Amino acid sequence: MTPERLFTTTIPGLQKRKHGGPPIAMVTAYDAFHGRLLRKSEIDIALVGDSLGMVVQGNASTLSVTVDDILYHTRMVSRGLMGTSLLVSDMPFLSYQPSVETAIREAGRLIKEGGAQAVKLEGGEAFAETIRRLTLSMIPVMGHIGLLPQRVHSMGGYKVQGRDKEAQDRLMNDARSLVQAGIFALVIEGIPWELARRITEEISVPTIGIGAGPHTNGQVLVLHDLLGWSEAETLPRFVRRFGQAEEAALDSLRRFRLEVSGTTYPSLEESYSETEQ
Ligand code: KIV
Repeated sequence: MTPERLFTTTIPGLQKRKHGGPPIAMVTAYDAFHGRLLRKSEIDIALVGDSLGMVVQGNASTLSVTVDDILYHTRMVSRGLMGTSLLVSDMPFLSYQPSVETAIREAGRLIKEGGAQAVKLEGGEAFAETIRRLTLSMIPVMGHIGLLPQRVHSMGGYKVQGRDKEAQDRLMNDARSLVQAGIFALVIEGIPWELARRITEEISVPTIGIGAGPHTNGQVLVLHDLLGWSEAETLPRFVRRFGQAEEAALDSLRRFRLEVSGTTYPSLEESYSETEQ
């Protein structure tokens, strides 16, 4: 068996890739098993996303996720990664919006207690001061603009953003303000690819797109979507299912049930005997 090659993603290393090298691959992870998968497939960044409210907890939105939830999942992912992919944790709804002090305290918990190396938060210029204070407090921040799941109600659903000139100017301005505030990378979600390309060309930090076309400096997907572990009917256009995990899991579970009910599992070879030591 070939020994596993361990790699380490660093923030300076990611930033260099703005100017060359392969685009950045980022995937969500929610437990140690996911962390191991990302480690073994050499994914650059593991994101403990607040999407866990939907894909793990089964809620209709991310809004009910708490810092304790993110902390619990961050610790598990950290054990699976073993210091390889950069570990970024999401700041959930109302963990940073109330005040800068709240943001520093809650982000600090994710770093100190969870083992995250950076945090991500949703929002544009309105959060520039919060991001500036977080980075001054030595907490690396990844920005997130465009379609913001924590704004699902004010957006009227999960809708593509930046369709008209005014919204496009606002998003460009948001991107610039967040870079000035000190973000090391920017997630851009659910916007037309032409706008994502303009933002990517304009700003000095790597952009990581989701539903933002091929011209960003990296891509992020939710693990369950990528593996083919979520309902295909409900997936947005940009999701490519790189696997058929649900079909494979269902097939294994059905075969287990049939073999148990048909008494063909376990065999004697799969059992312990009194005659062996
Ligand atoms: O919560 C999440 O998983 C995210 C990504 C999809 C970017 O924010």
